[in-house]
Amino acid sequence: MTKRALITGITGQDGSYLAEFLLEKGYEAHGLIRRSSTFNTDRIDHIYTDPHDAKSKLLLYYGDITDSGQLTNLIYNIQPDEIYHLAAQSHVRVSFDMPEFTGDVTGLGTTRLLDAIRRSGIKTRFYQASSSEMFGDSPPPQNEETPFKPRSPYGAAKVYAYWMVKNYREGYGMLAVNGILFNHESPRRGETFVTKKITRALARIKLGVQDKLYLGNLEAKRDWGYAPDFVEAMWLMLQQDEPEDYVIATGETHSVREFVNLAFNHAGIELEWRGSGAYEKGIVASVDSKQYGVSSVQNKNLEKPSAYSSLPTVYLSGKSQLKVGDVLIEIDPRYFRPLEVEFLQGDASKAKKKLNWEPKVKFRDLVKIMVDEDIKDLEEMRRCQDVIRKLANSKSMQ
Ligand code: NAP
Ligand code: GDD
Repeated sequence: MTKRALITGITGQDGSYLAEFLLEKGYEAHGLIRRSSTFNTDRIDHIYTDPHDAKSKLLLYYGDITDSGQLTNLIYNIQPDEIYHLAAQSHVRVSFDMPEFTGDVTGLGTTRLLDAIRRSGIKTRFYQASSSEMFGDSPPPQNEETPFKPRSPYGAAKVYAYWMVKNYREGYGMLAVNGILFNHESPRRGETFVTKKITRALARIKLGVQDKLYLGNLEAKRDWGYAPDFVEAMWLMLQQDEPEDYVIATGETHSVREFVNLAFNHAGIELEWRGSGAYEKGIVASVDSKQYGVSSVQNKNLEKPSAYSSLPTVYLSGKSQLKVGDVLIEIDPRYFRPLEVEFLQGDASKAKKKLNWEPKVKFRDLVKIMVDEDIKDLEEMRRCQDVIRKLANSKSMQ
């Protein structure tokens, strides 16, 4: 029989990869989406099919993790075999600005869902998106036995949710698990998380759309993995007979600075760091012109024609090549956090032993995947704009 999964947070990075993964496995995927004044389904548009089509296997419902009535209805009506709870206010820096909201969505949201399952009386398996941010300043390597010492409202909300999962598992016999996932990234990563912020800015610098990138703490160390690898681990956890919690990580750790250096290197730019603290700057030390590549339109200094006035937001104006000594990175203290998690490095040996899970993509390849994808996307956008410009010009000549 076809299995049914309900995914909260289906429009997010992980939700979109998980939906793809489950559809591929023959599941029917049901997703909770928020009503918004603009479309928020970019990441799943490619797998969406017309719901009028009887064969459609991806079904979406409006709802919010703060609305328990709707959650109970959905669970009762869908009767999912598996629930993947990924919806959250997931940005750590933002959680300092909105601690109460983060507690409501990221913490209490899990309780609402667990209780909706209990009240609806259905038998289902439940996955909670727990986080390495819960470890806070517990020293690395962190595993399932490491104490939680959260250092953000987000981390504290996730710790609360973690314990609610354990309570419902032990109190009501639910097959509910915590996947304690370390940072995982991809080209679909939200644009304000540091990896995507770096690779997106690099592509824009390379194509002459942006001059500089402003960052916060360059010394923080993270265990960065690849999101598609990590969603497979979520699924594996729910296929076990015994509900248990698992750490999912690559075991490798790197600083934000290392990420920046490797990303820029991959695009042919060698950086030199000068100054310290808030005054530190990343400066072009050399450019490998072969690797950096000079796209044919890059030096054209395209003028913005009047026909563009109705065109989008980013007009990709050309710009001359980078020079040695150009300042590409500066520090903006606004991106520092009131408290920082300095060092995350996961020990996923339990997942390896019991789930037979191992990451396929490690740090170096992850950086390359993200840089290449962002450059490719921007080049495609530029080509489209060139075509539109030509069309607009030929029309105005008629
Ligand atoms: P993400 O890209 O920020 O996606 C978050 C999802 O939650 C989006 O679909 C968002 O909807 C939805 N959402 C937010 N508030 C909601 C609400 N009130 N009601 C319903 N939906 C809501 O996050 P992600 O990187 O995919 O992460 C997925 C989950 O794993 C999150 O719980 C995150 O905290 C956790 N986690 C992530 C990582 C990581 O490194 N990525 C590591 C450990 C744990 P919109 O699209 O409408 O905003
Ligand atoms: N976002 C951001 N922006 N972070 C910066 C910047 C910047 O300009 N400059 C330096 N950083 C540092 C942050 O201070 C942090 O130490 C590190 O880069 C990673 O920041 P994020 O990419 O925002 O991720 P995170 O580690 O705080 O949180 C992510 O991983 C958690 C798992 O550990 C999120 O995905 C959470 O939802 C997830 O639970």
